Amino acid sequence: MYKHDVLIIGAGLAGLRAAVEATRLGLDVAVISKVHPVRSHSNAAQGGINAPLTDRGDDWEGHALDTIKGSDYLADQDAVEIMSSEAGDAVIELERMGVIFSRGEDGRLGTRRFGGQLVARTFFVGAITGSAILHVLYEQALKHGLNVYEEWFVTDLIIEDGRCVGVVALDIKTGTLHSIWAKTVIMAAGGAGRVFEPSTNAIICTGDGLALAWRAGVPMMDMEMVQYHPTTLARTGILLSEAARGEGAHLLNSEGDRFMLKYAPQYEELASRDVVSRSEQTEINEGRGIDGNVLLDLRHLGREFIEDRLGYLQEVAVEFLGIDLAEQPVPVRPGVHYIMGGIKTDVDGATVVPGLYAAGECANVSVHGANRLGANSLLDTVVFGRRSAVHAAEYIKSVDAGSGSDEHLNATKARIQSLMDREPNENWAAVRNYMANEMTKGIGVFRDQASMEGAKAAIRNVNERMPNIAIQNKGKVFNTDLIFSLEMEFMADVGNAIVHSALTRKESRGAHFRTDITERDDENWLKHTLAYHDPDNEDGVRVETSPVTITKWEPVKRVY
Ligand code: FUM
Repeated sequence: MYKHDVLIIGAGLAGLRAAVEATRLGLDVAVISKVHPVRSHSNAAQGGINAPLTDRGDDWEGHALDTIKGSDYLADQDAVEIMSSEAGDAVIELERMGVIFSRGEDGRLGTRRFGGQLVARTFFVGAITGSAILHVLYEQALKHGLNVYEEWFVTDLIIEDGRCVGVVALDIKTGTLHSIWAKTVIMAAGGAGRVFEPSTNAIICTGDGLALAWRAGVPMMDMEMVQYHPTTLARTGILLSEAARGEGAHLLNSEGDRFMLKYAPQYEELASRDVVSRSEQTEINEGRGIDGNVLLDLRHLGREFIEDRLGYLQEVAVEFLGIDLAEQPVPVRPGVHYIMGGIKTDVDGATVVPGLYAAGECANVSVHGANRLGANSLLDTVVFGRRSAVHAAEYIKSVDAGSGSDEHLNATKARIQSLMDREPNENWAAVRNYMANEMTKGIGVFRDQASMEGAKAAIRNVNERMPNIAIQNKGKVFNTDLIFSLEMEFMADVGNAIVHSALTRKESRGAHFRTDITERDDENWLKHTLAYHDPDNEDGVRVETSPVTITKWEPVKRVY
């Protein structure tokens, strides 16, 4: 029987930062991941990690205020205070573990400016920051004795007497199901970008962690807050990092105008992401786009600078569109990148289900509110990944690892067998594509009642078709047909929570911009939405609200 003190689902930055902390405390720790740890989506994070370092004359309150303003005042300010005040130590610690951050001419750690901030406080490793940190955390965790279930897919959480005590999981390589028992489970399974198409997210970002926690009774908070990144490569949706604009790149419309000067006179191309994406979409909608795109212009930065600081972007532009960034502007458009909403946790990662913690993109602590600042997600992962592990280590002192019964395993075996036995009918790929395209149409940069109702109808359609999805590959070894079908079920749950949360919020705030209600309404909507799994309610969802925590920054009009 598999048994651990701490089981971490997901081996991206949040999961591995939690793993480093828990293993250092001498606990028996395992991560379980459906891909090899260094292939986790954190690997794709490009631009950097924010930290207000005092030796630069920066201060955590400045970072906190920028984050809160960026969130359109929906972030809980107690959580932001923790993230901002722990940021400096978190980044210096990464450097000491072995992350080779890029340095400036003076030999000190280099910084670049990122959106929604006038201060340059983003630390980076070229344009491969996520990958560099991920590799170091993985090495550190292995050094401290981490166990790894690599290419294992979690199908269910095990809940006994209201407590989370492990998971049922499929070893993808052999097709066998197992129970893994643990005194505590930390959910760090990443985001859900693939509920939309196109998306900057890896194909694995299917919201598994969110759906698993939701089914276990944890609410998903602020799920309507879906971030559209302003610069995704035309035709492909691949991320072209905000680092380009941070280093001075311009956005141009079809008339060659730097249109951001009009929409955000002070922050220009580095306004918050929701503002820049809306500005781009407005230009496109009003006929000043180029085939549904605007242009990102780096030419004035010069070839040497582009290749030194933004080499990865140059590779992507050349490889996919044949565009040399030193010679030509590149077409870009807003694309789904991140979900600010997620599993509701407290500032120590605890959820309402004892024994179940969450950290990283799947969690909502809430430090990003209605719009996340670029480079705050990496910070969120390391600060709250570490805190979850510390708190979980305390929690396990007073609990055991569950009954060890086969009941949960047998239930999952029966469920998967019935899926395997279905006669070929509906294919998961057709359902997934339909859902993801309808979600983008309905829950877009701009949305309104009718578009969101359209997305709701699409999710209903998906849920009606789901029982007809059949697995055509009847084999056991690496059955991706089965995995993708199981992912489809998770994605439909996440989509359902998103559309119901979006329909509930009757105002515009941050990423949730309604063309039929264009103003922010603090009097009625300075509130979180909480979507609960409720089989007795229409569509199996119930949406409630809860207050936002304000410590010292009263909401004011957001201007860039
Ligand atoms: O543009 C970027 O490099 C993305 C960073 C982020 O989402 O934090």
